[in-house]
Amino acid sequence: MSKPIGYVLDESTPSVVRFVSDKPPLLGDYVVINYGNGLQVLGMIEWVGARNTAFSVMDGVKDPTVISRLLKGRIGDNFFEGKIKLIGDIARFELPRIPPPPGSPVYRAPQHILEKVFGGKEPRMIRIGTLLSRPEVPVYVDVNKLVTRHLAILAVTGAGKSNTVAVLADRIVRIGGTVLIFDFHGEYVGSTIGGKVNVIDAKLNPELLTVSELMVLLGIEHRFYNQERVLRRAYAKAMESREGSFIDRLIKAVESLKGREDPKAVAAVLNKIESLQEKYRDILDENVVDVVSRIKYGYANIVDLSRVDEEAADVVVSHFLRRILYERKRYKRFGEGLAVPILIFVEEAHILAPKDRTTLSKYWMARIAREGRKFGVGLAIVSQRPKSIDVDILSQMNNKIVLKIVEPSDQKYIREASETLSEDLAEQLAGLNVGEAILIGPFVRVPALVKIDKFQGRLGGADPDIVREWQSSVSEEYDVVDEMVEAVIKGFTR
Ligand SMILES: Nc1ncnc2c1ncn2[C@@H]1O[C@H](COP(=O)(O)OP(=O)(O)OP(=O)(O)O)[C@@H](O)[C@H]1O
Ligand SMILES: [Mg+2]
Repeated sequence: MSKPIGYVLDESTPSVVRFVSDKPPLLGDYVVINYGNGLQVLGMIEWVGARNTAFSVMDGVKDPTVISRLLKGRIGDNFFEGKIKLIGDIARFELPRIPPPPGSPVYRAPQHILEKVFGGKEPRMIRIGTLLSRPEVPVYVDVNKLVTRHLAILAVTGAGKSNTVAVLADRIVRIGGTVLIFDFHGEYVGSTIGGKVNVIDAKLNPELLTVSELMVLLGIEHRFYNQERVLRRAYAKAMESREGSFIDRLIKAVESLKGREDPKAVAAVLNKIESLQEKYRDILDENVVDVVSRIKYGYANIVDLSRVDEEAADVVVSHFLRRILYERKRYKRFGEGLAVPILIFVEEAHILAPKDRTTLSKYWMARIAREGRKFGVGLAIVSQRPKSIDVDILSQMNNKIVLKIVEPSDQKYIREASETLSEDLAEQLAGLNVGEAILIGPFVRVPALVKIDKFQGRLGGADPDIVREWQSSVSEEYDVVDEMVEAVIKGFTR
């Protein structure tokens, strides 16, 4: 190794090392510490501060006049202090139980070691970006661990969440994987992810809905227990025969309860079924087949939710999650059902799995978080409001890609839901630029500060050019006025 960049200070522990350097070390960069007994340990710089020898001696002088005099006299040199989080020895990535001796030299980690740590020769590895501190070192993530241990992608708006989804989905499809993305804003529908996109309409066959799903669409909460009972009884009756439309059968079944159930509840349920047909004309369709049979293997399957409201989105998403988990279990047991593992991306996770409300999607997301590993169903949740997500679900997403997060309360919430995100690292989140992220969890060998690749295909959702949109709408108006003026002039001259 070349020249050391610094030396270990005293008071180090087996996991955290303080060091000094005369040149500014790069935050997030990797170093190797030579313990002197053949042991070489890799670590990441998690914190950097600038110091001055004279200021230090004077116990952190803060008087500007004194500082100006010190500088004029050229007393004291600037130096840098940093904190290194140790990762493990470079042979086996195991953490030694002893701290490095004070004075041990600290080297910048050589490229070949980093390539070994972040590399991706095996087929299960896909590239996600490059090390922020070393653009020449590509970073790969382990897809097996991604799918089985789930993922959360968190950041403020515009920081690069959708781009990250596109990069991951693209590369997974290109190695033959199957993904499903719930698209709330129509960004992925027209995309070229993986070169193989299958758009799935958010249409459900009402006959295949559960009572709970119907209740959400109808707006029947559990506290309206009379209405719930009417619906449950009618639903059971409507399921007895398969003749005619399900909704007609359901209406008939409710009507047959007149005189036997609370008349107000019966009237209310009838009313709600009528408005259901009106309100959800777009998503209910008695002719569509089951959602799982619409998923194409080896494709980026995009469920277009751009035209549905929050309640309907909850029903559509939970319906897919429930059916996918069920069909994967069936496949594992009987060889029939959904024949391939699948990774499901859920955008707007703070709406579908909120902290303070129960939703159907939240229940099924929790089930997949718990059981998905065994059946090859992976969940990747995406959100710009981490602290509004249910904490159990967030903490079960063992892998995390955290881009820029400004609010300290969000940072704290993420930290509480992640074992491996240290306070020092979390503090860096506010300073990240677009596309820069911290990766933690089993899908990377060690925590990494990464510049995510930019998705090279077509993807909606780029920052809109507001001024251009205004200007083009104004000029269109002028065109119309011009045409009118022309028409009038023509009329006069005819
Ligand atoms: N890694 C990256 N490299 C270069 N540009 C990027 C990167 N990530 C995102 N961008 C650009 O930044 C803009 C916003 O990205 P993106 O839509 O992914 O953000 P987002 O976090 O999903 O935002 P929102 O919260 O609105 O959904 C886009 O124009 C995108 O092309
Ligand atoms: Mg987005």
